[in-house]
Amino acid sequence: MSFLELCRKRQSVRRYREERVAREKIERCLEAARLAPSACNSQPWRFIIVDDPELKNQVASATFSRVVPFNRFTIKSPVIVVLVIEPGNISSRFGGLIKDRQFNLLDAGITAEHFCLQATQEGLGTCIIGWFDEKKIKDILDIPSGKRIGLLISLGYPGDRLREKDRKHMEEIRSYNSYTG
Ligand SMILES: Cc1cc2nc3c(=O)[nH]c(=O)nc-3n(C[C@H](O)[C@H](O)[C@H](O)COP(=O)(O)O)c2cc1C
Repeated sequence: MSFLELCRKRQSVRRYREERVAREKIERCLEAARLAPSACNSQPWRFIIVDDPELKNQVASATFSRVVPFNRFTIKSPVIVVLVIEPGNISSRFGGLIKDRQFNLLDAGITAEHFCLQATQEGLGTCIIGWFDEKKIKDILDIPSGKRIGLLISLGYPGDRLREKDRKHMEEIRSYNSYTG
């Protein structure tokens, strides 16, 4: 698969087959995530792989409620990856402070996408999840209270067909040499 094909194939998967995911495959996704770039090579991340079915259900239950049900699909995903944001090294923290940029959040997004693209390559489906009860998940997984969870990623064999991408046209997002060029 070419890289562009891989990008087209990656989509948010919200329906999963029951099949379990071999840790060998998860390890390759983690290796792709580990190789991601980060500000000052700070690598401000830690991945908690939740593949114990009971624990996974507890984490999944913290991503939806009766009022906000749209993440209910996570109950069917065999694995949920919890991406904890670490503080980062001194250079990236100092640089971020001076330049008013949250480098560790940017870094977290990049590593998450590395993970998802490798998962696609492995024939797996993912969905990045930003809506969840952070406190509940921290309690379930013994994550220290001072830490932040950046994102969750659901992972499993896709039950979805490949969809058409819903994206802005190139003309809306691209200019050369100036904002309006
Ligand atoms: C930071 C972030 C948070 C997201 N949170 C959720 C979420 O809580 N629930 C969900 O179903 N999808 C979530 N998504 C998936 C987006 O809805 C999805 O990527 C977007 O609609 C584009 O569709 P595609 O991934 O299928 O190409 C999130 C994606 C990102 C990058």
